[in-house]
This record gives sequence, C-alpha cells and structure tokens, in this order.
Amino acid sequence: MHRIEKAIEMIIESRFLTAFCGAGISVESGIPTFRGEGGLWNKYDPDCLDLDTYLYHPERTWKIIKEIFYDFFGQAKPNPAHYALVELEKIGYLKSVITQNIDNLHQDAGSTNVIEFHGNSHFFVCTSCSTKYKLAELKLTDTPPICPACGKLLKPDFIFFGEAIPALARDRAFKESELTDVMLVIGTTGEVMPASMIPYIARQQGAFIIEINPGYSAYQNGVSNIVIRQSAGEALLKIVKGVKGE
Ligand code: APR
Repeated sequence: MHRIEKAIEMIIESRFLTAFCGAGISVESGIPTFRGEGGLWNKYDPDCLDLDTYLYHPERTWKIIKEIFYDFFGQAKPNPAHYALVELEKIGYLKSVITQNIDNLHQDAGSTNVIEFHGNSHFFVCTSCSTKYKLAELKLTDTPPICPACGKLLKPDFIFFGEAIPALARDRAFKESELTDVMLVIGTTGEVMPASMIPYIARQQGAFIIEINPGYSAYQNGVSNIVIRQSAGEALLKIVKGVKGE
C-alpha cells in the first residue's frame, strides 16, 4: 500500500493522534531550518543563543537574535501544513500538537492544543521581576529590551542553549506521547534532546509513527514506521483529503 494511503488508514483508525513538529513544517512559511542546506546554523553561530552570554552581556548577542527571530522571522504566516493540522483537529482526530518551533504559527493557523517545548518568540519575560509581555506590547530596537515595570533586562520567552525546558510543557508532552497510538512526526532531524525523545516515547509504547520529511532524521533508522518523503504541506494536504474522504 502506498505510504500516503497507509497514513490515511492509520489516522482514520486512531484513537489518540498527535503531531510532533520541527522547523521543517515552517519552511513553506519562509522560515529556514536550523540544520541542513541553507540552515540557520550554517549562517549564524548557535552561541548567539547562549543563555549566560545573553544574561550577562546582552549587548553581544541581542542584535543577532533580533535580526533572526524578529526582523527576519517576525512576518511569517502559517502555511498549508499548519492549516492541515488545524483541519485534523477540527474533524476530531488530532488531539495535540507538540512543537519545537517558537514561531507561533500553529496558534496563528488555529490549532488550540499546542505544547511548546521550546517556548514562544512572541512573548518576553523580565529576568528580574518575571513580568511577561506580548511582543506587540514592546518596541524592539537594536539595544537589549528593558522591562517597562522594573527597568531590568527582558528575555525572549523561548529556550536558549543552556536553559531548562519549561517543566509544564515537558511533562504534558511526555504524557501525550504515552497516550498516543498514532503520531505524525513532521520536519525535524530529531537531534536535540530532550524534545527528540518524544517520538521514541510514543514508539516504545506501541504508537505507529508516520514521518513526513523530504530529508534526513534520526528517526529513519527504526523509529518511524513509514517515512513520507514529501514537503509537509504537500503530504498533509493529501492526507487530510483522504481522511475526509474527498
Ligand atoms: N517539509 C517537511 N520537512 C522539511 C521541509 C519541508 N518542506 N524542509 C526541510 N525539512 C526537514 C529537514 O529535512 C530536517 O530534517 O526539516 C528538518 C529540520 O531539522 P532542523 O533544522 O534540525 O530543525 P529541528 O529538528 O526542529 O531542530 C530542533 O534545534 O536549534 C534547535 O531549538 C532549535 O527547535 C530547534 C531544535
């Protein structure tokens, strides 16, 4: 049976379908991946997201962070892949989206149960008084952002290297993975722990793993039951049409 047909069959028969997403699902929104050809880490040094550097010398890295995650990414819009996941939720199959992405595009598309393993670039938190701000409330400039309430440094509310994963998101993601009987694994190399454990946890308790990725991932040697080598938008559009019997 063709892989797309198999995916459609497994989703229709699923009791607890979840999706685990990485940067690849946002490629068709114009946001580059981190790794592989044209990846961000080929162009920028990942140290720009070193936590201690930002906390103690924010002037060293803030301009690069602003350039990548706000000037460049900030205007991105959801693409057909994000909307396809919303459709799978609306027709009652998809229970949750566990995402490594910080671009808010799942929520912008209309997904209502999004677990953000690495936080969200559309929010800032004060490093001193912990007040949280929406991006829209702030006017970002080339100098590190300052808390309007207490005047101390604001930090983007996504995970920097060296920073702990938000405990609530981590626990919810692991719990959902244990309940999953079919998981869509979309656009991720599976190289960054502990997020990359999610598909392993699901597979270990018997879930059927449907991977959508035109390139490489660590899941392709024994974790994914099927690998659909197409872009997220292309594959998910066919899958949703099939699940809806169109
Ligand atoms: N559709 C689906 N997948 C795609 C597409 C596409 N159109 N284009 C590329 N891909 C795949 C690539 O083949 C690759 O496997 O998306 C994946 C992107 O991998 P990474 O760039 O490593 O992104 P990700 O796995 O999300 O990285 C995990 O690393 O730097 C950290 O915190 C950052 O959340 C990120 C984490």
